[in-house]
Amino acid sequence: MTTGKVDFTGVQSTMLVTLFLRALDDKEKEPILGDHFAAEAVQRIGYDWKKLDKATITRSRASVAQRAKQFDDWAADFVRRNPDATVLQLACGLDSRAFRLDLPAGVRWFDVDLPDVMELRRKLYDESDGYRMIAASVTDEAWLEEVPADTPVLIIAEGLVMYLRENEVRQLLRQLTDHFRAGELIFDGMAPWVAKTTQLLKKYLSRWYPYPAYWTATRDGSDIEHWNPRLRYRENVAVMGQLAQSSAPDLRRRVYRAGTGFDWLKNYLRVFRAEF
Ligand SMILES: C[S@@+](CC[C@H](N)C(=O)[O-])C[C@H]1O[C@@H](n2cnc3c(N)ncnc32)[C@H](O)[C@@H]1O
Repeated sequence: MTTGKVDFTGVQSTMLVTLFLRALDDKEKEPILGDHFAAEAVQRIGYDWKKLDKATITRSRASVAQRAKQFDDWAADFVRRNPDATVLQLACGLDSRAFRLDLPAGVRWFDVDLPDVMELRRKLYDESDGYRMIAASVTDEAWLEEVPADTPVLIIAEGLVMYLRENEVRQLLRQLTDHFRAGELIFDGMAPWVAKTTQLLKKYLSRWYPYPAYWTATRDGSDIEHWNPRLRYRENVAVMGQLAQSSAPDLRRRVYRAGTGFDWLKNYLRVFRAEF
């Protein structure tokens, strides 16, 4: 069954890009992530995917897949340690992590995104006993009451923090640490120079750059504790550093290796982990 025609503007449109790139990764001879759900969703969604099939976009497929893999690895580790966990994935888009991972039966998983994204998501995926979808802006307050707070929580925010203003990030983190007693937060952060570049592109070249600018950059782990002193920064992983060690084709791997020689470039996109 297909979804009928869809189109999105604003920040919602970015989830079509990450979905498309995960589907492309799945078609590689040696995929990094191997997300069959993404490939299937792309087939089912009535969208003109040719719009995204440009080198300027597709060249990010390895980093999008590698970033998702890092989230998968940390999420799998958390549910292994906490088989009765609650997982709260913010800004899920059309991501299929809840189905990709082999979850213990006691895990309850909640995916949250904006209402129009959720409307499409519901045409692709079904709820079940352990899996629920919530249509809301994460900057609103009421939706969090739907999520039980009686077990350790893993909060996943992939591709979200950079689209929020810093005051929204602080407010969201405060709500989360007020609601849950203990858990972990994993999210990806863009380096300040990347955020600045998108802001300039948006200002001066918006015809060629249709996506929203990044507002909140992550300089390093201390930003997390600054945003919310209840969070304790634990570790981060540079996506480019991982690609440099991957089994990517030779030429690509050499480019990643060269990139890791410069900290500012290596750290352009990192995945961070914190506890509370
Ligand atoms: C880059 S996409 C990432 C989607 C998904 N995590 C992935 O990796 O494919 C950004 C997502 O953030 C969502 N988003 C942005 N602001 C949001 C908000 N205030 N509340 C809920 N979702 C939001 C968008 O709708 C979009 O689905």
